[in-house]
Amino acid sequence: MRPEGRFKEKCGIAGYPVQEMSGLIFAYLGPAPVPYLPRWEPLEWENAVRDIAITVLPCNWLQCQENSLDPVYVEWLHAYYGMWLQSQRQELLSRALAEQHHMDIGFDVFEHGIIKRRVLKGYTQEDDDWKYGHPILFLNILLVGNQMNSTLQFRVPMDDTHTYHISYYAWQSAPGSEMPRRQERVPYRYVPLKDDQGGYVTNVLFNQDYMAWMTQGEIADRTLEKLGESDKGIILFRKMLQEQMAIAEDGGDPMNVFRSEEAARNVRIGIEQVKFGDKKLFARYFPGEAGYSTDAELVDEVLATWDKVLTEV
Ligand SMILES: [Fe+2]
Repeated sequence: MRPEGRFKEKCGIAGYPVQEMSGLIFAYLGPAPVPYLPRWEPLEWENAVRDIAITVLPCNWLQCQENSLDPVYVEWLHAYYGMWLQSQRQELLSRALAEQHHMDIGFDVFEHGIIKRRVLKGYTQEDDDWKYGHPILFLNILLVGNQMNSTLQFRVPMDDTHTYHISYYAWQSAPGSEMPRRQERVPYRYVPLKDDQGGYVTNVLFNQDYMAWMTQGEIADRTLEKLGESDKGIILFRKMLQEQMAIAEDGGDPMNVFRSEEAARNVRIGIEQVKFGDKKLFARYFPGEAGYSTDAELVDEVLATWDKVLTEV
């Protein structure tokens, strides 16, 4: 109304500092000073090809993250339910799925979060699932994988009942080999949660997870819980949440706030090594969730660099 008025100079859309890293843009929404962005190991891989899959989930972020502290669910959701789906489709039942029985689970707090460990039937504590385990990076990240391929899952709260879920895939070329060709840009895609008939997409691994998280309701009703022996990881994570919130309330820095560039650079977590002789059959691109990477060919070229290493063993 009054173009000469000064009021407009006092208003503005809030902006946040952002930083691009390996195909993702991170925004910092906290108080100044801005901490350093943690450069988790796979984000720093140099000879690697990447892919990003995005999903908006109609549920609270915490039930997604808590799932990562429950190793035994894999047996029920991916193995038994997966086999039931296969039987419905009259497919051959996968032996690998049938053999996923947990003999032991364990959790260790480390400086960046919690390592979850499992011993599946037929394996021992000398195997990678226990020896290296899978780290949950506090607060909202899961890292699964090994030096050949890894996935970081970021569970970003949009509001109380929506989660912006980013699966960040990275495939690294074999030690001593060069990338066949550089990736021009990191592709991304949006992952469908429902099929044409309106049912949940359940024939791909991560979509089974999404279905399980969403169907707990917008915010899972914890009053209905009966936490048992296999839920000790969830109990530990909730304790960690309370502790870290108390640190933040006291004005301190909670876990994974980095105040030096050096500490934030290439944060090494100790991920699984490639089990030589074991991974050859899997060294080809397959989508972890609905859809397909537009750079699948490039992924296969990178994975082919491992063939030589694997066949030499
Ligand atoms: Fe899962």
